Amino acid sequence: MTNSYEGIFENNKKWVEGKLADNPNYFHDLAKTQHPDYLYIGCSDSRATAEELMGVGPGEVFVHRNIANVVNTLDMSSTAVIQYAVEHLKVKHIIVCGHYNCGGVKAAMTSQDLGLLNPWLRNIRDVYRLHQEELDSIDEEKKYDRLVELNVQEQCINVIKMACVQERYILEEYPIVHGWVFDLRTGKIIDLEIDFEKILKDIQKIYNLTDSDWVMSKKNKNIS
Ligand code: CO
Repeated sequence: MTNSYEGIFENNKKWVEGKLADNPNYFHDLAKTQHPDYLYIGCSDSRATAEELMGVGPGEVFVHRNIANVVNTLDMSSTAVIQYAVEHLKVKHIIVCGHYNCGGVKAAMTSQDLGLLNPWLRNIRDVYRLHQEELDSIDEEKKYDRLVELNVQEQCINVIKMACVQERYILEEYPIVHGWVFDLRTGKIIDLEIDFEKILKDIQKIYNLTDSDWVMSKKNKNIS
């Protein structure tokens, strides 16, 4: 299952040859630009790949991965990725994809000192605290799966809280934010069917970051 270090370069050579056999201009075209419709925010876990599980190739999905697919506005990396994807690439869908058997979520469930990982895992521990009543009423195994799902849901909300997402959505009716869980035990993607419109409406009572005058002036300009 594990590729040797040298084997990876052999794999790459074969991959290049295969692509060129199908289309001699493949890399020439690939190098020109990118127009992905999807931003995928997932876990760094080696088993939860982005492109492979979605069945898409290079150029089709903009990817950000970190431990336990966390979106925190204090994290410059995910914030920059989302801002760039929304404002410049104009992606149509933002997917937050967690996965069952997530080590990051498991670590957050155990209340122990994990050193440098503590501030990162706190994001997930906060999700636990928000949903403690529900989580403490179910058994351990189900609780683990449920925290994976609730973490996805809360990270979707964190994406929707961002001004760039709210503004682009008001102007152009996208991006739509989706919450998924990848089930390693079956290979299937489960759509949590997050109610994007409702979450947006609900959180705008508190997190409305759009300057309505600015948005309306941009909207009018787009229409005229
Ligand atoms: Co994980």
